[in-house]
Amino acid sequence: MGAMDQDILKVLYTEKEIAARVERMGKQMYEDLQDKNPLFVSVLRGAFIFMADIVRACQVKSDVEFIAVSSYGNAMSSSGAVQITRDIQQDISGRNLVVIEDILDSGNTLFFLKQYFMTKGAASVSICTLLDKPSRRAKAITADYTGFVVPDEFVVGYGLDYCQKYRNLPYIGVLKPEVYGG
Ligand code: XMP
Ligand code: MG
Repeated sequence: MGAMDQDILKVLYTEKEIAARVERMGKQMYEDLQDKNPLFVSVLRGAFIFMADIVRACQVKSDVEFIAVSSYGNAMSSSGAVQITRDIQQDISGRNLVVIEDILDSGNTLFFLKQYFMTKGAASVSICTLLDKPSRRAKAITADYTGFVVPDEFVVGYGLDYCQKYRNLPYIGVLKPEVYGG
């Protein structure tokens, strides 16, 4: 047991379950993307662990890119206003983008990013999210690839944080309310 486990109320997906799901998603994506020379764009920081696993599960000729956005700060609900805090570093015109995200929640972030990348001339923008929380959707957006559909609970681990902590938990779980003063 590590120092963070005692803050977890329950585990939603174990390390093994995540690995198995990511493996299957990667194979499915390979079928669609094998002749598309995709550019995988990871949304920092939450998606960094998922990114590392999904690009290895999808053995397609491709390259990787990173973008950082902020809409939450340290709060637990979306503000709706998305800001790019670190932009992509290359020309994406004509490229087939696959945005790699940790969680699709209100949809504000991915709705904004999809439009942003299309404006920059991407040939296509598909969305791959590990988690989907459809109950909280505020924007009309759906993912092309989804790992797990999650209930309306704040989750941490496998890249997802609370106040920048818990990203390095190997599983995905729900925090005890007392940890965030709930
Ligand atoms: P939106 O609302 O824009 O949210 O779809 C996407 C971003 O919000 C963060 N988010 C969470 N982070 N546990 C987290 O650690 C959660 O349950 C959660 N719900 C949303 C996340 O950073 C994502 O990129
Ligand atoms: Mg986050």
